[in-house]
Amino acid sequence: MVQVIDGKQIAASVIDKVKAASAALEAQNGVKTGLAVIIVGDDPASHTYVAAKSRMAKDCGFNSVQHTLPTGTSQEELAAIVKMLNADENIHGILVQLPLPRHIISEPIIQAIRPEKDVDGLNIVNAGKLATGDLETGLVSCTPAGAMLLIRRTHGEDLSGLDAVVIGRSNLFGKPMAQLLLNANATVTVAHSRTKKLPDVCRGADILVAAVGRPEMVKADWVKRGATVIDVGINRIDAPERGEGKTRLVGDVAFTEVSEVSQSITPVPGGVGPMTIAMLMANTVIAAHRSVGRALKIF
Ligand code: GUN
Repeated sequence: MVQVIDGKQIAASVIDKVKAASAALEAQNGVKTGLAVIIVGDDPASHTYVAAKSRMAKDCGFNSVQHTLPTGTSQEELAAIVKMLNADENIHGILVQLPLPRHIISEPIIQAIRPEKDVDGLNIVNAGKLATGDLETGLVSCTPAGAMLLIRRTHGEDLSGLDAVVIGRSNLFGKPMAQLLLNANATVTVAHSRTKKLPDVCRGADILVAAVGRPEMVKADWVKRGATVIDVGINRIDAPERGEGKTRLVGDVAFTEVSEVSQSITPVPGGVGPMTIAMLMANTVIAAHRSVGRALKIF
């Protein structure tokens, strides 16, 4: 029987710890954890994600600030807001929702966020700490950190002898995911759209992590029997069976058929998605603790 990994439940246990940590910081140091989320433009999916992040931040007892900016916002205007938030001592985490509108060059904006407040783990300081195996003093990108927690719940801390394949090589997910797996002693392959014989590569994986953004691309015959499958995709597809104009969410993995061969698998929705928000809250309260010289371990 396949084990369906319950991301909602594991995320809820992280959120409980975040709430306790933020309450303790406020009681003992008089510091209210602050998260600022910036969104530019009117992409509906991004607005849904950002609203969920801001809501959860409030729920965790944080000072939750959202900057909602029009599509026409200039590079300089956005940079000025990041600069202001960098200097604001009530703000411990800054997240600029991606993707940004095309006329804005993302990289200088992301790199302008102070590493201590970079709760997305995208600053080169944080990316470099992860790459050199320093998991104690930096901040790790939320979705890979969340996916890793799900993998650890299945396999434990040490992945020695296990082959892991990550499909996707983005700075936000694929690269940090590969680093986390490598840190846990897995043997890691990073595959992507230019990989030759992708199904063959995937079939070698004891742990298969899919982050490609293509609905149900990973089929049962790509998956080794007994593998752990982590589905990072969130794709909205038409669902005429639910009525005219209806849609539904699916991952990058063909869930029903892959469930027949895998040992454990994350569902979409309810798998990695809730973990991303939980880890964002965790990174923010960790950053707030560090701002007063306190170390905090949540996971
Ligand atoms: N867009 C989709 N996922 C993310 C994320 O984790 N962080 C940011 N900043 N933007 C995103």
